[in-house]
Amino acid sequence: MPAAEFPEGLQGDVQRGTYLARAGGCIACHTDTEAGGAPLAGGAALQTPFGSFVPSNLTTDPDHGIGAWTVADFARAVRHGVSPEGQPYYPAFPSAFYSRLTDQDIADLWAAFQTVPPVAQPAADSRAPFPFSFRAGLKLWRAVYRDHPPAGPVAGQDEVWNRGLALAEGIAHCGACHTPRNVLGGLKTAARLSGAEGLPGGGKAPAITAEALRNSDWSEEDLAYALEDGQMPDGDVFGGSMAKVVRHGTAYLTFTDRAAIAHYLLNPASGG
Ligand code: HEC
Ligand code: HEC
Repeated sequence: MPAAEFPEGLQGDVQRGTYLARAGGCIACHTDTEAGGAPLAGGAALQTPFGSFVPSNLTTDPDHGIGAWTVADFARAVRHGVSPEGQPYYPAFPSAFYSRLTDQDIADLWAAFQTVPPVAQPAADSRAPFPFSFRAGLKLWRAVYRDHPPAGPVAGQDEVWNRGLALAEGIAHCGACHTPRNVLGGLKTAARLSGAEGLPGGGKAPAITAEALRNSDWSEEDLAYALEDGQMPDGDVFGGSMAKVVRHGTAYLTFTDRAAIAHYLLNPASGG
C-alpha cells in the first residue's frame, strides 16, 4: 500500500475545486438532495446488484466527515480508493476514474472541501453481500475493478481531444455508468462505453461509443449542448440518472469543456 504522500505547500484554488466537484459529481452523489440534506453531508444510498452503498459525509465535521483528514489522506482516498486506515472503498465510489486527477486538481478540490460547513451527522454504512461484506475481501476485488483504460494524453491527438479524454475518462467518469461491468462489478474495459444495465436504482445507460452516437445522429455540437440542457437531437430529453448528471454536473461546465468531451467521444483514436 503506498504511503499517503502529497507535495507540501501546494496551494489550492477554491473556485476551480468547486468546478471539479461539480464536474466529478462529488456534490451530486454526496448530497441527499431529495431528502433536503445539507451539501456534502452524505448522499442517498445507491442500490446496485452488488450491494447498497452510501456516499459518505464529506463535510469538515471531524467525527462524521473528513474534518480530521490531511490533504494526503484525501489524495489517497480520491485517487487510489483507499481510506486513511488503509481499507479499500467500494467501487460505487468511482475513484478509479479519479486516479487521473493531478496534484493540482486534488489541492483545488481539497481547498473547496475546506469551505464546507461541518455537519455532525453520520452517513449509514455501505452494505455488500459476502464476501465483499468484509472490506478485506475488497482487496481481491480491487484487482479486478481498478482495471481502467490507459491514462492520457495520447500522442498525435490534438489538445481539445486530449482535454476531452481527461474529462470523459477522468473527473466526469462517463464510463462509470456507460461501460458494462462483470459479475464482480469490475468495468469491462474491452467493451468501453458500449452501454450498461443494473445502474443504481435499476437504470440502463445506452452505448455512447462514436459509432452508436453517430447512428443516433449525434453531432459534436448537439452533444455539447445536450450536456448543458439535456435536449437530445430527436427532441426528447435525457431521463433517469443522465438528467441528474446534466443538472448537477455537466451543466456547470464551460462550453469549451463540454465541446471537448463531445469531440473526444465522436472521434475515437485510430485503432481504438
Ligand atoms: C456515484 C456516486 C459518487 C460520486 C460521483 C463520488 N462519490 Fe465519493 N463516495 C461514494 C460512496 C458510495 C462512498 C462510500 C464508499 C464505501 O463505503 O466504501 C464514497 C466515499 C468517498 C470518500 C471517503 C470518505 C470517508 O469518510 O472515508 C471520499 C473522500 C470521497 N468519496 C470523495 C469524493 C470526491 C472528491 C468525489 C468527486 C471527485 C466523489 N467522492 C464522487 C460515492 C460517490
Ligand atoms: C450516473 C450514471 C451516468 C453517468 C455518470 C453518465 N451517464 Fe449518460 N446516460 C445515463 C443514462 C441512465 C442514460 C439514459 C437516459 C435516458 O433513459 O433518457 C444516459 C444517456 C446518455 C446519452 C444519450 C444517448 C442516446 O443516444 O440515447 C448520452 C449522449 C450520454 N448519456 C452521454 C454521457 C456523457 C458524455 C457522460 C459523461 C460526461 C455521461 N453520459 C455520464 C447515465 C449516466
